[in-house]
Amino acid sequence: SGHGARVLSIQSHTVHGYVGNKSAVFPLQLLGFDVDPINSRALSRGAGYPVWRGQVLDGDQLWALIEGLEANNLLFYTHLLTGYIGSASFLRTVHRVIEKLRSVNPNLVYVCDPVMGDEGRLYVAPELVPLFRDLIVPVATMLTPNQFEAERLTGRSIRTTHDARQACRDLHGAGPSKVVITSMDADEKLLLVGSHKKGESFRQFQISIPKLPMYFTGTGDLMTSLLLGWSHRYPDSLETAAELAVSSLQAVLHKTLSVYKEEGVQVKAKQPELQLVQSQEEIKSPTTRFVAEIL
Ligand code: ATP
Ligand code: PLP
Ligand code: MG
Ligand code: NA
Ligand code: MG
Repeated sequence: SGHGARVLSIQSHTVHGYVGNKSAVFPLQLLGFDVDPINSRALSRGAGYPVWRGQVLDGDQLWALIEGLEANNLLFYTHLLTGYIGSASFLRTVHRVIEKLRSVNPNLVYVCDPVMGDEGRLYVAPELVPLFRDLIVPVATMLTPNQFEAERLTGRSIRTTHDARQACRDLHGAGPSKVVITSMDADEKLLLVGSHKKGESFRQFQISIPKLPMYFTGTGDLMTSLLLGWSHRYPDSLETAAELAVSSLQAVLHKTLSVYKEEGVQVKAKQPELQLVQSQEEIKSPTTRFVAEIL
């Protein structure tokens, strides 16, 4: 599905485990994209393990990589994808990167996961919130916040689908034509709410997802990469892209659960890493099992 598409993906790298680029690059490659990863951090492991060592890239080091690509005429990208960003200076440099890439390809699609927090808690420096809101959201093509991030970006409290739809309209007003609130809590379920601005009208939908009894990491990063992938194949139907992304992600989660059940208590006590390598078929050709309800 990714023919002719080349993605620059700026995210964390983990030696052990699947979050950030480890969670996004392989699925995009399976979908046919050329992916150039920039590892914003190189860590020994993902969240959920007690000890980590590694390095963090600063804004100047990011810019040096961009200059190196530019010096060789290698800055043509169809897509930019960003996830967790650790500091205000790095985020400001990401903004310079977007402008630079758009000067080479004005049609660059920028897919932004504004990772700031979850479950009522901010896990980045508070100064990143206004930077995302005022600098980054306006230049994004597709935005994939969770419920908490959409609340921070809009200043709205999101409790109902109605609130989520209004938040999406606010976010469209700021810039992105595609907004997906990737998860919000609704009783025993998770709800995905999507909104596609086409001219002056909005096409909005929701997908209901049963909550599995496990805490996963790397799922947000996988979700955004799959939304990028399927939106390239179905640019005019965000709901089709979201149905495929959710169906594929849920197949990966079911496989992950079944592996952890088989391997028993000892393994179950550890971090449940996404079984990406084991789920290649589900990623390449998902069966649509989750259907969007148009709102
Ligand atoms: P962000 O990366 O911006 O923080 P997020 O909070 O939506 O986004 P996750 O909480 O990882 O990221 O959720 C992403 C997707 O993963 C959800 O849309 C949902 O489909 C799926 N998911 C995550 N955890 C579960 C679970 N326990 N049961 C079922 N689906 C899940
Ligand atoms: N842990 C680390 C070290 C990460 O860098 C990230 C994302 O970049 C995550 C966990 C979690 O990501 P997700 O929201 O996809 O679960
Ligand atoms: Mg979440
Ligand atoms: Na998200
Ligand atoms: Mg996340």
